Amino acid sequence: MSRIPYGSYQSKLRAVLLLSALFLFSTSALRAGIFDEGDPAAGKAIFNANCASCHTTTDAVLAAPGLGGIDERWGTTEEMLVKWITNPNGAIETGDPYITSLIKTYESSFGIMTPQPVDEAQIKDIFAYILRAPVEGGDAADAGSACPTIHDNDDDVSSAAGIWFLIIGVLFLIIALSAAGTNRSLKNARLESEGKEPMPHQTYSQMVMGWMGRNKAFVSVIGLFVVCYFITVSYIGAMGIGVYEGYEPEQPIWFSHAVHACENEIDCEYCHHSARKGRHAGIPSTNVCMNCHKGVKEGRKTGTEEINKIYAAIGFDPATGQYKEDHVEDPVKWVKVHNLPDHVYFSHAQHVEVGGLNCRNCHGPVETFVSGRISPVEETNEQNIPGLIELSKPTLTMGWCIECHNKAEIDLASSDYYIDMHDRMKSSERGREELRRILDEDGAATVKELGGWECAKCHY
Ligand code: HEC
Ligand code: HEC
Ligand code: HEC
Ligand code: HEC
Ligand code: HEC
Ligand code: HEC
Repeated sequence: MSRIPYGSYQSKLRAVLLLSALFLFSTSALRAGIFDEGDPAAGKAIFNANCASCHTTTDAVLAAPGLGGIDERWGTTEEMLVKWITNPNGAIETGDPYITSLIKTYESSFGIMTPQPVDEAQIKDIFAYILRAPVEGGDAADAGSACPTIHDNDDDVSSAAGIWFLIIGVLFLIIALSAAGTNRSLKNARLESEGKEPMPHQTYSQMVMGWMGRNKAFVSVIGLFVVCYFITVSYIGAMGIGVYEGYEPEQPIWFSHAVHACENEIDCEYCHHSARKGRHAGIPSTNVCMNCHKGVKEGRKTGTEEINKIYAAIGFDPATGQYKEDHVEDPVKWVKVHNLPDHVYFSHAQHVEVGGLNCRNCHGPVETFVSGRISPVEETNEQNIPGLIELSKPTLTMGWCIECHNKAEIDLASSDYYIDMHDRMKSSERGREELRRILDEDGAATVKELGGWECAKCHY
């Protein structure tokens, strides 16, 4: 038997350790390039503009795999990552095994990623944002915690209380009846032993009524409790406190702004995409839903039930991932919430693009609305966004429009539209006089001073 010297084990071990350290060093050095260098703040803007319509920064799947933890998962080179993002088809043609498996996993649900107009430096910024911003307490994390907790079954509390009430009640009845029964048997046994007639037979209801007759005070206290309980429950129900889930949506699909705009941080304009360009913000067509729901087939709250209604409308078979050929689209009939009378002219583009207003100024915190709670009144005008104008009149009334036009100030240097108007006014004596009037004491121009109170601006 030959002895292997102890020292050779040690040197082999050392060599292996050295080699693996070198390997780890080389791979981490390679990754340090793309995953550790960029600027998260710049990356946020680039990500939102280019990637956010398909990817999230977490592991949540939108219309593509979430990019959270991509540094741990990416199984090929840095060059290939840049190539993949800028030219996916080129990357596929190289036959790289990681890319091949990526396509195999996702193509059937989401198709192939579109080439992205970003360069390597921007890609570094994007990954800095994805991988580092949330840990630094970026707003992704904040927004997450601020979303209403739709997925917790809060309203079960009241139904659970109801069930306990029922169980306790039934137990109480059983005990009372069996106690009464035992009592009778004992009495009958005693009467029998004394040679007397046993008590006449009684039905349970006769027994209960008899007992209630003998215990009037106790019965009325219990009765009072029951009445109070039902009053409280129906009051909570009527006030809508904590009963989101009990709410019957008036909409054809249980669509939740909280799930989309808050939990998944989808931009308002992704769905209401004409808000910046046109009069109407518009309600998204079923095709827009399918950008994501081709892949997202199940909701955490409603399972497949509600999402299947999208498929029924557009004729999509979630099992095969194919559209039915002879299907005639049956558009989802959303119930319109806002409605100005026909004699009023209102344009979103004028307010959102030219006026630079936030949706919240007029619609309130829509991203917290769980379902069917889009309301034109009440929840607007709260104070937590900068520049929000405090208004006292109910929304959609003329007083509301007028009040804001009286308060909202316009920065004449804020857009080409105003700069143009400003220059035109400065070029004539009458214009300059007009400007002095507008800017009068306060030096600011309000919408009113620019003509926002003229009847014809809002009325045909
Ligand atoms: C139109 C939708 C879409 C857009 C926009 C998009 N991607 Fe993708 N991305 C995909 C899809 C789909 C996949 C999955 C592979 C496939 O099927 O093509 C993917 C895969 C990836 C992967 C690989 C994920 C993994 O698990 O390995 C990375 C990295 C990636 N995308 C980065 C980006 C970046 C960065 C941007 C923005 C500059 C971006 N993508 C924009 C659809 C998109
Ligand atoms: C994923 C798509 C999607 C996103 C993102 C989205 N919405 Fe909506 N929105 C809808 C759909 C669908 C409806 C119609 C159903 C309803 O009224 O709830 C709607 C309805 C509305 C309405 C009421 C329309 C009416 O009938 O008068 C308002 C106002 C609105 N959204 C504002 C917003 C704002 C503000 C945001 C961003 C915080 C936003 N939406 C984000 C899809 C979306
Ligand atoms: C100056 C106030 C104001 C701002 C800012 C505003 N809206 Fe509106 N919005 C309205 C009014 C008023 C209506 C009702 C219009 C009507 O009935 O013709 C409306 C209607 C809507 C509707 C119903 C469909 C439609 O176009 O009539 C949607 C959806 C909507 N807004 C979304 C948005 C989104 C998203 C934003 C932000 C990008 C936004 N709004 C910004 C006042 C505003
Ligand atoms: C940009 C991507 C995207 C778009 C566009 C989109 N959704 Fe969603 N939707 C999601 C994601 C992500 C979820 C979350 C699934 C979950 O509950 O985890 C979701 C969930 C849902 C749910 C289930 C909610 C639950 O919790 O049970 C319904 C219903 C739904 N969406 C309807 C719609 C409708 C209708 C449209 C079009 C007006 C639409 N979605 C557009 C991404 C999207
Ligand atoms: C939250 C504030 C706010 C509310 C509410 C509001 N507006 Fe405005 N509006 C503005 C601002 C700011 C401007 C200036 C932007 C511009 O010149 O286009 C403007 C401009 C306008 C203009 C163009 C005025 C001009 O001189 O050319 C019209 C028309 C208009 N609004 C109609 C309405 C109507 C109708 C309503 C009510 C349904 C309304 N607005 C509600 C802030 C508001
Ligand atoms: C900033 C926009 C705006 C301006 C300026 C404006 N209105 Fe209105 N007006 C509205 C809106 C919005 C309504 C619809 C309110 C409603 O249905 O409650 C309305 C409604 C009306 C109505 C119908 C009232 C009713 O009960 O249906 C009359 C009449 C009217 N306006 C007259 C005028 C006159 C006259 C002026 C000029 C002195 C004027 N408006 C200026 C926005 C405006």
